[in-house]
Amino acid sequence: MPQRLARAAEKKAEPGVQRCVNRACGATYGLGERIYLCPRCGETLEIDCRLTRPRNPDALRRYWAAKTASKFPRDGSGVWRYLNVLPFEDDAPFVSLFEGHTPLFHAPRSAQYCGLSDLRLKHQGYNPTGSFKDTGMATAMTQALISGARTAVCASTGNTAASLAAYAARGGLQAAILLPRGQVSPSKLAQSLDYGALVLEIDGNFDACMRLVQELGDDPSIYVANSINPFRIEGQKTVAFELMEQCAWQVPDHVVVPGGNMGNSTALGKGFQELLDLGLINRLPKLSVIQAEGAAPLAHLFASLTPKQRADFDHLPEKLAPVENPQTLATAIKIGAPVSWKKALRAVLRSGGKIIAVSEQEIADAKAMIGRDSIGCEPASATTVAGIKKLAAAGHIGRKDDVVAVLTGHALKDPDYMIRYHEGTLTSAAAAKDASAPPKPIAGAFQNAPERVSATKTAILASLERRR
Ligand code: F0G
Repeated sequence: MPQRLARAAEKKAEPGVQRCVNRACGATYGLGERIYLCPRCGETLEIDCRLTRPRNPDALRRYWAAKTASKFPRDGSGVWRYLNVLPFEDDAPFVSLFEGHTPLFHAPRSAQYCGLSDLRLKHQGYNPTGSFKDTGMATAMTQALISGARTAVCASTGNTAASLAAYAARGGLQAAILLPRGQVSPSKLAQSLDYGALVLEIDGNFDACMRLVQELGDDPSIYVANSINPFRIEGQKTVAFELMEQCAWQVPDHVVVPGGNMGNSTALGKGFQELLDLGLINRLPKLSVIQAEGAAPLAHLFASLTPKQRADFDHLPEKLAPVENPQTLATAIKIGAPVSWKKALRAVLRSGGKIIAVSEQEIADAKAMIGRDSIGCEPASATTVAGIKKLAAAGHIGRKDDVVAVLTGHALKDPDYMIRYHEGTLTSAAAAKDASAPPKPIAGAFQNAPERVSATKTAILASLERRR
């Protein structure tokens, strides 16, 4: 029975093709071809899983729901339980660390902060290595094994690295990681070291590491695991499927994500589009992407588009002006030349969403507010709540709208940032780029500094009283 329903999803014998996203080119390639950009025109690729509308969408929903209770180990993965919408055969060498199945929290304090009656946070930081990267790494490392690679490489601001290190080790592959030296949170670096990856620190920023990785991809023994790789996107798209199950298939009005290299926004856009094509949802949520002010090339481009250009998502601008020296304390998204910008822009425009930037102060305060909701996240993830507050103030998001923000990384990914915010010693990265300018302090509007107290009951009670 499950097999019959899986077929209803319905993949044909070949579970898909790789297709160039440039409509004028439209070249297709077999799934086994290890390419990351279209050999014909140089544009990025996406996977067409050749899904066809099931006759009974409810049966498909029930099929996935039943898998959560399955005893079959592969179904314990929140990614692999959607195998029938992924470009893999049933006998693939599945790599998994039981990713996915992440919580969807109500966040009343953050909602109030944004001027909304409700706000839900889908926390991808609850994945095995603490970030959303794990869903895509499960599929990418599986494809690396299928393609016979020996080594998986990535450029990273830290989270992709930690995730690749863990999943490559699980799959029995060597992992090599290119990090911008001195610009990665020690917690993320520690994870990569612990999972046994070869960590290569480069004098340069993330964009320089990314250029190097693309060169390395020519070597037949090497598999590139950045989100330029369309198999990464396939795993990451499953968050849209899981989210819709958690929303009882009621489409939220808005889904808001942070933007760095633009893999996550691409993946969510693809996931929702496939759900629509499968007849499992009846409209797209408005997908909005939030960048940090000092690293916001796509927000700049978006702001420059005319209403006519925004409506014509089949003819996207040819070029994105990169930010040469990106700056933000949200180091995860300190990226000036995002590789997947076109796919992400198309998804946002198609859905009627926005791409905007928020300041360092706005990110820091939003992050503290998410903490007050007992949830917490890393700084890059907090761009979402900062962005929602701005979009609500501008009228794009209505007070009663159904809004979901996707938090991408766990709070403990960057404890130094948190401590400095609460102690009142956090200073803005934007000022730091000009060595002669004094660092610009970030006011901890929700500061909660530790108190030094004498070791007596009376002193402790007095302290409690002061804070009541
Ligand atoms: N949030 C976090 C916590 C991230 O680590 C990243 C990206 C993003 C958001 C942005 O997602 O790139 O798909 O738009 N981190 C990458 C890395 C670049 O190397 O860990 P994106």
